[in-house]
Amino acid sequence: MDEVMERRESISYAKLYRQWERFSWSATDIDFSRDIVDWREKLDDKQRDALLWNYSLFLVGEEAVARDLTPVLDAAEGFPESLFLTTQIVDEARHHVFFDRFVREVAGLGTDTASTLGAVDSYLTWGFRQVFDELDRVTNALRRRPTDKALLAQSLALYHVVVEGMLAIAGQHFIQRYLEEKAMLPGFFAGINNVARDESRHVAFGIAFLGDLVRDSDECRAAAIELWDRVLPWAVGVFIPPNFDRDYTEAFGFTLEEIYAFGLRSFEMKLGRMGIDPEEVALLRREDRSLPYEERARRLWVLIEAGILGDDRREPEPTGEALEILFDSMTKSIDLDVARSLKGPIEWRFTDGDPWHIVVTNGHAEAKPGLAGTPALTLETTTSEWAKIAVERTHPVRSLAGRRLRLRGSLAAKAKASKLFKLG
Ligand SMILES: [Fe+2]
Ligand SMILES: [Fe+2]
Repeated sequence: MDEVMERRESISYAKLYRQWERFSWSATDIDFSRDIVDWREKLDDKQRDALLWNYSLFLVGEEAVARDLTPVLDAAEGFPESLFLTTQIVDEARHHVFFDRFVREVAGLGTDTASTLGAVDSYLTWGFRQVFDELDRVTNALRRRPTDKALLAQSLALYHVVVEGMLAIAGQHFIQRYLEEKAMLPGFFAGINNVARDESRHVAFGIAFLGDLVRDSDECRAAAIELWDRVLPWAVGVFIPPNFDRDYTEAFGFTLEEIYAFGLRSFEMKLGRMGIDPEEVALLRREDRSLPYEERARRLWVLIEAGILGDDRREPEPTGEALEILFDSMTKSIDLDVARSLKGPIEWRFTDGDPWHIVVTNGHAEAKPGLAGTPALTLETTTSEWAKIAVERTHPVRSLAGRRLRLRGSLAAKAKASKLFKLG
């Protein structure tokens, strides 16, 4: 108990509350008159479209988080937590007012809150819809069961860690950077700086609150990790621009890979602060975390562009490089003891592509293009089906049942396949 008290003391929800009072601001007072001129004169059609795409995600996101926080407030038992959450609900409402004013008064979309929200609907990505539908679902479940600590942990894991700590903070960082560099939209710049300061306070609170829950309860810890495993593949798709057009960010001097590197880094930092090893999270476990964040982000983008990650409505079309990345990550996720016990290579024969194989030597697995010679186990499938299995979009048992995946080898080898790839 003392230890918990000490942690709370050092994080100091009271200090976060005082900061809220000190940095209060008005979304209705912001003067957009200069922004209206800049919007017309400093930007071309393409740039206006790019900014609108970017700001639409925030407009819709802020509206959702303003609605979805009351169940968390009801579920919080301590008064310091409740006090802070009350301020956060006010903040989120103010953020929505701010984005709503900009999109309506500067970009000229809609005539009231509902029509402005409706006007930006076509900008929302599949990943965005998945993430925010899930936020509605989890917080609604918490609304019905406010004493369920695992649901509280999941709500914080999604709301404060993913939506705010990974997506919003990454997006805001780049908006602040290019508006400062280009010295335009001064009203919006002033507002987004206030929003970003609020968000960092919200995230600090969420990490502290969730950190306490996961340290004190294995059930909460497992629930948070399960939530991330479900949501991160969707979160990866949030920032995919219309038609995969890189100009949507590059017109403002940054790349999509930079956003993804920023998001990955901040997510891992937050896990660290809560005492969670990134290896516990499926999406991160598949990555080679010895590589720099920029390279990891670049690889993620190869998988996104190939339709493997980021939008499950797409049928993957794995390129050679995408397959190489998938096999590379498979050497990390494969069960080494089971692989060794096969006493021979594992081979993939693709009906629509070149073969690959994995061999285990000196205690580590290595993936190589080409046939294996004398494989202990052969998997026959398409590159698309295998890509979906590799990123856990589809369960291999379903692929086997639908005969989209076939195994060849001894009965004993085939029996081991489920353990090898954790097909459980
Ligand atoms: Fe917000
Ligand atoms: Fe927030």
